[in-house]
Amino acid sequence: MNVLLLGAGGREHALALALSKSPDLTRLIVVPGNPGTAAIAENVSLSLDDHAGLLALARQRAVELVVVGPEAPLVAGIADLFRDAGIPVFGPSAAAAQLEGSKSFTKDLCRAFAIPTAAYETFTDAEAAKTYVRQGAFPVVIKADGLAAGKGVIIAADVTEAESALDDIFGGLFGGAGARVVIEDFLEGEELSFFALCDGTRALPFASAQDHKRVGEGDIGPNTGGMGAVSPAPSMTPTLEGAILERIIRPTLAGMAARGMPFQGVLFAGLMVDPNGDPQLIEYNVRFGDPEAEVMLPRLDQDLLALLQSCAEGALPEWPLRFQDDVALGVVMAARGYPEAPETGTPIVSLPADNDTVTVFHAGTREADQGLVAAGGRVLVVTARGATAEQAQARAYAAVDAVDWPGGFCRRDIGWRAIARERAKAAQAEQ
Ligand code: AMP
Ligand code: GLY
Repeated sequence: MNVLLLGAGGREHALALALSKSPDLTRLIVVPGNPGTAAIAENVSLSLDDHAGLLALARQRAVELVVVGPEAPLVAGIADLFRDAGIPVFGPSAAAAQLEGSKSFTKDLCRAFAIPTAAYETFTDAEAAKTYVRQGAFPVVIKADGLAAGKGVIIAADVTEAESALDDIFGGLFGGAGARVVIEDFLEGEELSFFALCDGTRALPFASAQDHKRVGEGDIGPNTGGMGAVSPAPSMTPTLEGAILERIIRPTLAGMAARGMPFQGVLFAGLMVDPNGDPQLIEYNVRFGDPEAEVMLPRLDQDLLALLQSCAEGALPEWPLRFQDDVALGVVMAARGYPEAPETGTPIVSLPADNDTVTVFHAGTREADQGLVAAGGRVLVVTARGATAEQAQARAYAAVDAVDWPGGFCRRDIGWRAIARERAKAAQAEQ
């Protein structure tokens, strides 16, 4: 089968690597790809905004399945484009991608279908929004409605912070994404990410992961796209997975189908699990996470291509998926200055070779005349698998230490919650 994969990040390198192992794959084309995907597939340089060019490429190369990595093209209708042309595509329609593209759309769906999520109100007017926050409790969470590259959420500690956040968002800080604002209650608990493959009517649990969103060790400093991840999520249990599926994922699929916009693709639920173990939805994404994909896909013990194809065809298998019974931990190496002002163009002198347990994913690299250089904020993701989070972490950081890139930095504590949990369990078992 000829497959076209869209995107350029570490997530797409991980998708390309998993797809390249399929016995059914004939040719894998990645647009635009990166130096990591170039080693295992054919990169074609085209803009993801060039819908006519993408469709022409797909036709010319007899593409039989399109896999969409990032959210922006989905929200812009790229899946509809291919589907209307009769080319199967893994990824939701523009209508269904509103689950990520509009926070108020998702909150309204939650309200209509009794899906647990933080209480909220939606505003298009700054004064009305300010009146609402003055009457509420703090901290309060203020969100630009539209896509804001993961930056559109402000947690305000008091009235002053809330009012200035509202002025910023309605003043255009996130452009058109902030014309509408969702204000919601602050949820306490532990965050985790849960992924389900969906074929429009049914959901198949894929895997869980825990991201580390803050730039600094100990989870401090500004939010980023994610500084590292571990899979499975340390707080995941079969009971919790059942609750997430029954109370959140399945009602969402049913609600979307009822509204005439069935969801097909991967549904990525950002969840808060409260101290009683009850999950609440923070947000949906309509694609694999990055860096979550780089820790989930290496554990998949099955043909990814066949799975994505079955989603695209509306015929997910009935049986549960198989994953390695281990832990994968990925450390993001970012360019100095990330997230505010990452320094690009710094030389990546050498990388350790991949082996059975370690993979170095390219996220923001570029092949220049002088060799490999940094070309983005998040540049590499070093993933290792191990029997425990502690072992995976030790292997990941040993590989990180073998990366010769003076222009980069990383957090040194990725997986700390998972390791703390493992140690607490071991201590309990000794008693
Ligand atoms: P989002 O872009 O919606 O994932 O939000 C970014 C981050 O803000 C989330 O990962 C959470 O850490 C935090 N956040 C968002 N909404 C809430 C909420 N209602 N309560 C607590 N934290 C939240
Ligand atoms: N790592 C978070 C995301 O992909 O949205």
